[in-house]
Amino acid sequence: MNKWIEDAVVYQVYPKSFQDSNGDGVGDLRGVISRLDYLKRLGIDVIWLNPVYKNSGVDGGYDISDYRAIAPEFGTMEDFDELLAKAHARGIRIVMDLVVNHTSTEHPWFCASRRDRTNDKRDFYIWRPPYEGGVPNGVRSMFSGTAWEKDEATGEYYLHMFAREQADLNWHNPRVRRAVYDLMRWWLDKGIDGFRMDVINLIGKPEAMLRSDGSPDQNGFNGPLVVDYLREMNREVLSHYDVMTVGETGCVTVEKALEYAPLTGEALSMVFQFEHMDADAGERHKWTTAPLELRKLKTVMARWQTRMHARAWNSLYWCNHDQPRIVSRFGCDTDEESRVRSAKMLGACLHMMQGTPYIYQGEELGMTNYPMKTIEESQDVEAIGAYRELVTERGEMTPEEMMACIRRKGRDNSRTPMQWTAGRNAGFTSGTPWMPVNPNHTEINAEAQVDDPDSVFSFYQRLIALRKAHPVIVHGDFTLLMPDDPQVFAYTRCDGEHTLLVACNFSGEEAKLDAQAATRGERLIGNYEDEGCADTLRAWEARVTLL
Ligand code: GLC
Ligand code: CA
Repeated sequence: MNKWIEDAVVYQVYPKSFQDSNGDGVGDLRGVISRLDYLKRLGIDVIWLNPVYKNSGVDGGYDISDYRAIAPEFGTMEDFDELLAKAHARGIRIVMDLVVNHTSTEHPWFCASRRDRTNDKRDFYIWRPPYEGGVPNGVRSMFSGTAWEKDEATGEYYLHMFAREQADLNWHNPRVRRAVYDLMRWWLDKGIDGFRMDVINLIGKPEAMLRSDGSPDQNGFNGPLVVDYLREMNREVLSHYDVMTVGETGCVTVEKALEYAPLTGEALSMVFQFEHMDADAGERHKWTTAPLELRKLKTVMARWQTRMHARAWNSLYWCNHDQPRIVSRFGCDTDEESRVRSAKMLGACLHMMQGTPYIYQGEELGMTNYPMKTIEESQDVEAIGAYRELVTERGEMTPEEMMACIRRKGRDNSRTPMQWTAGRNAGFTSGTPWMPVNPNHTEINAEAQVDDPDSVFSFYQRLIALRKAHPVIVHGDFTLLMPDDPQVFAYTRCDGEHTLLVACNFSGEEAKLDAQAATRGERLIGNYEDEGCADTLRAWEARVTLL
């Protein structure tokens, strides 16, 4: 693993909601350029840019119709080149989203593919005949309903694991893989610094889920060929460049991650695992208002920390464009003091672990969930589909119940505009924003925080600086303390020379520490002014100590 990857802190920019430069209400590349100095000031090393390619507007840019063109709403290729040059001039690298499990149905490959059964792009996608006059089998889309869509031109069905406008590519076809490797080289030759690979462990779909035999739904993640394809991609493309890669891998296990992101470097640099995001999942998976089960969170994170150590590389994240805001989710956003305190505590808890930390835009300000009232306000294909299925079609939940779940877990929460100022539209746009701005931007915004030493922003700045100053944060091993405690998340990191002690209170009530977690040493960072009692954590307190 390259040294720069081990030390790096990544900042995720969702361009549509970051900064609008031309008043059309949609964030764009020139907007990102104008905020590079802000990111430099925060201290991050890498930007992961959500998709900016030409797309059909169904799933926030994850429905690409031209891999080599910038979507007009985001700007031009010249804007992109300028962003890359200006980021590099500031020592910031750029990682692009690579969405190659599927394309938009408007992509020329799909347009050719659907025409007839014999054209040379037919086998670029997954086509199957009907089974007993209906869908080939029970495989379901991640966005609700069947994953098969009938196409009238040939009477066959194509597979779409997401929206019906997102047709899955057939990775078992070597010509598809070659075409993907070509477009990857095209971007890397431009000088970009890597890829975040969308749902990449879906590419090696098991044959059993592709048969037209009426079989029930199956999980398509982690198929037997995923690892072979990743190694081939590494041999053909990645190994020829100095790049950082992170695979988005739903349903990944530690065992699989050891193959997908080994330190030996023959596949990816790291993966995004999702297990810790299930620590507040319920019967209907994400659609619940169930509170966090801290013990579950600790067990999962400790397992990833200890089992990956010295074998594979972790990524660390609380938020992204698919997750709600962490301070509203695992912290407390009901009053200002708790919000600031718990946002800092969550930052410290994550950033002191081993792996590459990812900060999602606005997380460094402690931005919160959005108070959405009705489903009509949602812009998210996932939430709208789930509402239709669970409320309208099946009647399993009342509208009120489902809206409570969407307010807590929906993806719109992270996609409201970045809060730059207390002024009109939070300084995001001079026009009408494509998503409403969170009304709390009058209190929570960058302008109010960048010069305030007690702000969440300043705290994140210091967390990033600590990682650069203390190798134990990058390299130390991990030991969970007080595993059964329902309030406290405490652990040590040790590299043989130094020991770091991290103690976090995931509640608004005082919590007792055991003797080991209460050890005094050199205080590196904390979210209270004074040190307090050694064996007690105050509400939402975080303490990081060098022993
Ligand atoms: C990933 C993306 C998500 C998108 C989906 C389909 O999970 O992060 O935003 O909807 O893939 O591309
Ligand atoms: Ca714009």
